[in-house]
Amino acid sequence: MTRRISLTQYLVEEQRERGRIPAQLRLLLEVVARACKSIAISVNKGALGGVLGSAGSENVQGEVQKKLDIIANEVLIEANEWGGALAAMASEEMDSIYVVPNRYPQGEYLLLFDPLDGSSNIDVNVSIGTIFSVLKKQSDTPGVSTQDFLQPGSAQVAAGYCVYGPQTTLVLTVGDGVAMFTLDREQGSWVLTADEVRIPEDTKEFAVNMSNQRHWAPPMQRYIDECLQGKDGPRGKDFNMRWVASMVADVHRILCRGGVFMYPWDKREPAKAGKLRLMYEANPMGFIVEQAGGAATNGKQRVLDLQPGQLHERVSVILGSKNEVERASAYHREAG
Ligand code: AHG
Ligand code: MN
Ligand code: MN
Repeated sequence: MTRRISLTQYLVEEQRERGRIPAQLRLLLEVVARACKSIAISVNKGALGGVLGSAGSENVQGEVQKKLDIIANEVLIEANEWGGALAAMASEEMDSIYVVPNRYPQGEYLLLFDPLDGSSNIDVNVSIGTIFSVLKKQSDTPGVSTQDFLQPGSAQVAAGYCVYGPQTTLVLTVGDGVAMFTLDREQGSWVLTADEVRIPEDTKEFAVNMSNQRHWAPPMQRYIDECLQGKDGPRGKDFNMRWVASMVADVHRILCRGGVFMYPWDKREPAKAGKLRLMYEANPMGFIVEQAGGAATNGKQRVLDLQPGQLHERVSVILGSKNEVERASAYHREAG
């Protein structure tokens, strides 16, 4: 029988044998994984748990919050605030940062999350998820402020996501490749089910909300137009389209079989860089995708090189199979 490797074992090996992660970071990642397990239980209960529907409030982005957005946010805060590894947390669903209360020891890490990704899919029983990113506080000065969070994605020490789908899967990077763990519900443990994940460099599959096409910038129009022309166009091959409308599920498919995911800038709100959030969505997913051999850009710059100006900043995103991301970037460069 092949040996089952648990998340704990994987992380201990990353710590002990490869020297990749300090003990505090390992503990922090285990707690995040435990919180995801708890969110998965709420998700599974659905209508029976009274977790569906709107919470009747709005977040800082002006989006209506679902009950599960708030439940997942609370689960992550409560699980992570007392462990001693963290100085503060930031979430898509909170206006400002959450500093670890004085009654607990303060650590050196910063945790950022999109507690519930794919909110529009909650009530219709389609895959949703949680996305997280870990930074290290750079300054030694006591206390912590929003400024401490404003680090480029290349400074992330770990990132991951959990998909609540037909299976519950946790995907993780500590900067040493990408590993996937499947939740064994009977045992209550995360079991390593894929390691050293690689995204194929070429693909015939794209993921984008096509209903927005007429609002995109010319280089994006060109890229998608050419895909749509298929065999008869300059690409000389037919493309397939998939759009789950949960970034976690779309990115997960790309990690499993390749593809390119886009949420481009849109001229209806020209001042807004895009729909997705740099710190809670683009950076963690960009880190994971790069660690699997893919690429992530806003069209002009590598996502992980962007210097955030504010916590809830938005960004245009193109990520996935390397050669497709490179082609879309080239069209942006040519357009100037
Ligand atoms: P969230 O639920 O955290 O607000 O994120 C939703 C995001 C992302 O998951 C998805 O790719 C996209 O919004 C879906 O957008 P459309 O509704 O435009 O398809
Ligand atoms: Mn999201
Ligand atoms: Mn969300």
